[in-house]
Amino acid sequence: MVGSVLLERMRAENDFKGLTTTFYSTSQVGGPGPSFDSPTGSSNASGVEGGARPLADAYDANALARHDCIVTSQGGDYTKQVLPTLRERGWQGYWIDAASAKRMDDDSVIVLDPVNRAVIDRGIESGIKNYVGGNCTVSLMLLGLGGLFAEDLIEWMTCMTYQAASGGGAKHMRELIAQMGMLGEKSRDLMGAGESGILELDRRVSQVLRSDALPTENFGVPLAASLIPWIDRGMETGDTREEWKAFAEGNKILGRSDRPIPIDSICVRVGAMRCHSQAFTIKLRKDVPLADIEALIAGHNDWVKLVRNDKESTLAELSPAAVSGTLDIPVGRVRKLRLGPEYLGAFTVGDQLLWGAAEPLRRTLNILREAGV
Ligand code: HSE
Repeated sequence: MVGSVLLERMRAENDFKGLTTTFYSTSQVGGPGPSFDSPTGSSNASGVEGGARPLADAYDANALARHDCIVTSQGGDYTKQVLPTLRERGWQGYWIDAASAKRMDDDSVIVLDPVNRAVIDRGIESGIKNYVGGNCTVSLMLLGLGGLFAEDLIEWMTCMTYQAASGGGAKHMRELIAQMGMLGEKSRDLMGAGESGILELDRRVSQVLRSDALPTENFGVPLAASLIPWIDRGMETGDTREEWKAFAEGNKILGRSDRPIPIDSICVRVGAMRCHSQAFTIKLRKDVPLADIEALIAGHNDWVKLVRNDKESTLAELSPAAVSGTLDIPVGRVRKLRLGPEYLGAFTVGDQLLWGAAEPLRRTLNILREAGV
């Protein structure tokens, strides 16, 4: 999914112009490569060579080693297998991926340039060759709250997440819709009943949720009409790896792993398609007026959008339904909490396939090209 979205974005932004590319696959070697009848109209005149050539073998180290840069959204197992082989044979090229395998290694930079361009630039200058997109939830959180991090206003924070099915992959998205479809189908005869029939409808839905008929091959349990408060594997500390990433990756992206901001999360899968949402409780280092906080949030980057803390704006602008398929990072429900003047609440939504995955990769490729490396 990330690969498809990445290709779509690179075509839309004309990123292929001037690049000589070869497309590789781990599973469809010899199949047709992507074509470039692009929306910009530059298609085959754009300098792309081989756009429509058959897909090459993504395990062919000899072929891969001929490139200055490899961009992959294949996943951690591929990175673990292929990258060491290339490095052992002396490949000095740039590796850009979205997998967690190398994120925390010292020879990798986690890329999110609107937040850590300086860290990326330092990485390039110091000769680092591996650039890795961060975990989607972490990147979306940092983009939304970038203005507060940039001013070092956050003493500690919690992220309560509401993560979409797409975080698990395409099969998970299909399974969510299949579950929703089955619930609708099995309760259709009760939908017309009046108020008095609501308990019967509820019983029917619970029956279907607990029956073997509901497709749960990918999630393992129902997600439609339910939720799953566990993502990724457990850690000894009691949090899940997804929850740990906000702290570990978040501080690495900010370039402050040596003086980390405590960030704790509870990550929950919900029945959204491709937008991750998050609720934050933030302890500020000092009491800052709300208007100043709002200005810092809104002014940090071109994609963050402050949503007025009223019902109409929130319903219209601060939901997966409103944000899906866009690069917008709305931040709303911003308010001081009863806990005290240094405590802030906020809520954000972002497309986990765009800013959460594909966008940082294509932007890093362009940064490397601009740097002329
Ligand atoms: N781990 C994320 C999720 C997606 O499961 O939602 C990839 O960053």
